[in-house]
Amino acid sequence: MRKIGLVGWRGMVGSVLVARMREEKDFDLIEPFFFTTSQAGQNSPEVAGETSVLIEAFDIAALKGMDIIITCQGSRYTNDVYYKLRRSGWSGYWIDAASALRMKDHTMIVLDPVNLGLIQESLINGVRDFIGGNCTVSLMLMGLGGLFKSNLVEWASAMTYQAASGAGAKHMRELILQMSAISSSVGARIDNPELGILDIDKAVTQCVRSEAFPVDNWGFPLGGSLLPWIGDLKENGQSEEEWKNEIETNKILGNNESAIRLDGLCVRVGAMRCHSQALTIKLRENLDVADIEDLILESNPWADIVPNEKHATLERLTPAAVAGSLAVPVGRIRKMNIGGRYISAFTTGDQLLWGAAEPIRRMLRVVLDYLG
Ligand code: HSE
Repeated sequence: MRKIGLVGWRGMVGSVLVARMREEKDFDLIEPFFFTTSQAGQNSPEVAGETSVLIEAFDIAALKGMDIIITCQGSRYTNDVYYKLRRSGWSGYWIDAASALRMKDHTMIVLDPVNLGLIQESLINGVRDFIGGNCTVSLMLMGLGGLFKSNLVEWASAMTYQAASGAGAKHMRELILQMSAISSSVGARIDNPELGILDIDKAVTQCVRSEAFPVDNWGFPLGGSLLPWIGDLKENGQSEEEWKNEIETNKILGNNESAIRLDGLCVRVGAMRCHSQALTIKLRENLDVADIEDLILESNPWADIVPNEKHATLERLTPAAVAGSLAVPVGRIRKMNIGGRYISAFTTGDQLLWGAAEPIRRMLRVVLDYLG
């Protein structure tokens, strides 16, 4: 059995990864080695009724013994370890959830329901570094990949509604603390039907603007508000998250020469773990909505169509409905007033599953299949 090193398995994405690996019985196919940045020598999690000893994650000699390394430890770890490991002569497969290596020439961004053919080609060509994509990009392509793969998208604007999980576990906790502080600021007044809503609203506004409001992680109020900026500023005025859309989408699709133009604004909202996106798409052809829906449905088993009806949309096309599931529903598909080649669409998907852990879990299977 191949030796698989797992790094960053205790964090949020890593925990989702290991849970999915257990569900899919991936551990039956591998010999796992659990690495740690802080608890070397302690017991690993149990796999098939057995524990092992946690190995130091910066120990290059130990890492060198692995056939495949999967890391969810983050970009700092990748930057610290990856190059030392390669320089030491290691020629195994590096599967990484972090963004550090995503746009390097020697890497593939993996999303096998969309680009399995390219991944397989790259394996044959000797590529050994496989990186999970940005969560909004992966979720957009899981939902609307049928249109992209058929080369029907001339350009698209994706306006995002991104969940707290994309920023990390501490941020998710702080969102709840913010919501709790808002609730406390109103207290029993919410139950008094005599009290005007404007008085309650005033208490909420004072609360989110107060010094005591918990913003150590977000920096600003997210609960009861939103944050229309994610990541650093790029030179052209995009945020980093906005910049990733076009560049990563085209890398995933292998569009080296004829890049699809993509842009939009990325916004953090008070959802927990589902990223949503409202898209305006200019198609290359004036397709019927039914044909568009067929292309989406046929593209992978997880993309689902929600009819453009109020009840179905509110019931099925929300973070509340989709959290914890691999389904990526797409709805609000309709021709826009602008013209027959312009459509709207809305999609939502679990940021920790298809947005982070699932593509790299599946990449492990792809590599194992390739190695035979
Ligand atoms: N940058 C994303 C976010 C994380 O902040 O939501 C997923 O790649």
